[in-house]
Amino acid sequence: MKKSLKDYNFKNKRVLVRVDFNVPLDGDKVTDTNRIKAALPTINYLIDENAKVILMSHLGRPGGEIKDEFKMDPVAKELANLLNKKVIKVDDCIGEEVKKAVNRMQNGDVLLLENTRFYPNEKKNDSEFSKKLAENADIFVLDAFGAAHRAHASTVGVTDYLPSAAGFLLMRELNALGDVMNNPEHPFVAIMGGAKISDKISVIENLLEIVDYILTGGGIANTFLKAKGYEVGKSLVEDDKIDTALKLIKLAENKGVNLLLPEDVIIADQFSKDAQSREVKVSEIPTDWEILDSGGTLTLKRYTKIIKDAKTVIWNGPIGVFEFDQFAKGTNKIAHALAETDAKTIIGGGESAAAVKKANLLDKMTHVSTGGGASLRFFEGKPLPAVEALDDLK
Ligand code: 3PG
Repeated sequence: MKKSLKDYNFKNKRVLVRVDFNVPLDGDKVTDTNRIKAALPTINYLIDENAKVILMSHLGRPGGEIKDEFKMDPVAKELANLLNKKVIKVDDCIGEEVKKAVNRMQNGDVLLLENTRFYPNEKKNDSEFSKKLAENADIFVLDAFGAAHRAHASTVGVTDYLPSAAGFLLMRELNALGDVMNNPEHPFVAIMGGAKISDKISVIENLLEIVDYILTGGGIANTFLKAKGYEVGKSLVEDDKIDTALKLIKLAENKGVNLLLPEDVIIADQFSKDAQSREVKVSEIPTDWEILDSGGTLTLKRYTKIIKDAKTVIWNGPIGVFEFDQFAKGTNKIAHALAETDAKTIIGGGESAAAVKKANLLDKMTHVSTGGGASLRFFEGKPLPAVEALDDLK
């Protein structure tokens, strides 16, 4: 057990909170505020406890350099709107400017530091840099579930210099994901989509130990189909993972897990939202066409029935190119099946969460994770380094 917010008295304390405000931006507008909203319970609690709340996050992948398009100012603006309160923003995450701003803070004030990834030392988990991040605070709180799989200075390094606690969002994520992975009710179904099988090999290996069904879609399914000898035309396939796909199929057979592939799919004559498209059996894909949606009629009928009868469902990765409306049907249908089933439904972050949001079904799920890579790591059964680094409750 890790220490949580309830294990500290925050009054008059300078509390450094690592949040995951890595949000999508369109110019200087935040286009999806979910991650900011998800951090509000911790921020509001600390405000109410009369702490001085110092927030830090990465934003995008600026490569260790200051880049205007990755500055945190739009996030500060959005946060101020959501908190209905002034948010002090500084242009650095370490050094004199931060020190001065923190010294001026009153209890209950909120300050947002600049992008931690403007320093290359962040990703190196450099100890000098971690010390500088920590030096203006008394307590560290980790609430960035989405970045908890990264062993960086702002997630792991700072815990060498400050007493630490898990925030409410982090606890909520760990409880929700831990609950289904440790005590799943069966039938337990995993839906695995997304572009690449290579990202998910160890996830599938681990899931084969606990689930009853794996429903495949997207690029992952294409690679499985090709491994089984189907012609998949110009579809996205990882040719160097065909052997791995065959091994996973064998492993599933040995474990008695139903690893299902699409029976029919929507194909396109080119990768474009305006492509010509038609539905075909997987045995009928022309060599110069490509699968852009794994959700053919028969496939969706079978998948949605399994989801309906399940007790636990986890979903990672869309089963088609859902950004293009005419290839979004399969992914959408899966989202609706999850919304309608009585099963516990856990949505891995990233694209599957975006698909659920697009379908307007966020509040119909048991839990929608704010972490893409982090939830995958969890489904792999591997520890999250930033969680490991937190103080234990003795
Ligand atoms: C995410 O968006 O998954 C997290 O914020 C982590 O971002 P990263 O993959 O750039 O480390």
